[in-house]
Amino acid sequence: MREVAGRVLIDAAREAAIHAHAPYSRFGVGAVALLDDGQIIGGANFENASYGLSLCAETVTLATANSQGRLRDIVAIGVIGGTLSKEGALGGSALVTPCGRCRQVINEAAQLAGHDIDIYCGSADGSAFAYFRASELLPHAFGPSDLGVK
Ligand code: THU
Repeated sequence: MREVAGRVLIDAAREAAIHAHAPYSRFGVGAVALLDDGQIIGGANFENASYGLSLCAETVTLATANSQGRLRDIVAIGVIGGTLSKEGALGGSALVTPCGRCRQVINEAAQLAGHDIDIYCGSADGSAFAYFRASELLPHAFGPSDLGVK
């Protein structure tokens, strides 16, 4: 069951990666958030000529969920990424897991939701797949509750 849900989210993340704006790294990432009513919100990495301003796919996705008033309703996340060919196709067999900053952003959503978030990770070519929980990727996290925010 978990594997099936994961595959759906990984496929949706692959769709989301189509809109990656990654002309500098040539590494496209797609992420999706599954909400408690079954809705799926997607996003892709959004790079900038001022490199340090670039946004990861997971952060774009969670900000989009928040802009729809749904930050607390996220139950699972899917993410994939890989190298972009000249033609814009995504490739590679390496598993992509959320970067450190994105783990912190995901923790914000998990703590406010009051439950852990499932995280499904894959590779661009579909050969790699892994399941984690947000608390596993960022143990002993600092979050809203440390500042008295619920
Ligand atoms: N990237 C993401 O979108 N998510 C991650 O979790 C890892 C990295 C993006 C940032 C940058 O646009 C490109 O991948 C290469 O680091």
